[in-house]
Amino acid sequence: MKVGILIGSIRKQRVSDRLAKWVLNEVKNIDGSAGTIIDLVDFNLPLFDEEVSPQFNPKRNINPEARRLLDIVANQDALVVVTPEYNRSYSSALKNALDYLDFQIEKKPVLLVAHGSTGGAQAVAHLRGVFPGLLAITVPRAIMIPRRIGEIFNEDGFLNDPTKDEPYGLQTNLKTALSDLKWYSDALFGSRK
Ligand SMILES: Cc1cc2nc3c(=O)[nH]c(=O)nc-3n(C[C@H](O)[C@H](O)[C@H](O)COP(=O)(O)O)c2cc1C
Repeated sequence: MKVGILIGSIRKQRVSDRLAKWVLNEVKNIDGSAGTIIDLVDFNLPLFDEEVSPQFNPKRNINPEARRLLDIVANQDALVVVTPEYNRSYSSALKNALDYLDFQIEKKPVLLVAHGSTGGAQAVAHLRGVFPGLLAITVPRAIMIPRRIGEIFNEDGFLNDPTKDEPYGLQTNLKTALSDLKWYSDALFGSRK
């Protein structure tokens, strides 16, 4: 399974990148799987302003930076979206990037990994309504972390103190969620052209 791990924050002081590395570290433990971090900071994406909705525009005149992003996404079998919660939803940077997609994640599974004072539950709920528009499937489980990410994860994406992970069970929850993602990825693989 090739997994793209999309970071939903572009703030200089962000902590979502730590969670993306946490996911990447765990993907490395899954046989036959490889992770790629997709960092929106690395793409100079303007606000989406195309004349036609991408899925209905086979002759897209697409921004080259967006093309580069879409080609990387298209090369994945599954996505993990690491999302912060901003004002009871997910970030505008993430929505802008998603609006550029046409068929790159059609029939592919998406795992949501969220954080915020309520665990990012509202970001997760809103994203679950977005992905059907992109013909993708969010897996039923999601990771929601109602704790200060900068205090519990180091910059390399490891728990500062793994012995304090219980009773939260973050590592176990991530393993289970990624195992589900792989199940959906394998199940959907043959359905794609
Ligand atoms: C503009 C803004 C709005 C926020 N609104 C919420 C919110 O509605 N609910 C919540 O739980 N946390 C909220 N937060 C806290 C963020 O989820 C938290 O700061 C998180 O670390 C942001 O992710 P990032 O550091 O990767 O950007 C907000 C943060 C910002 C910057």
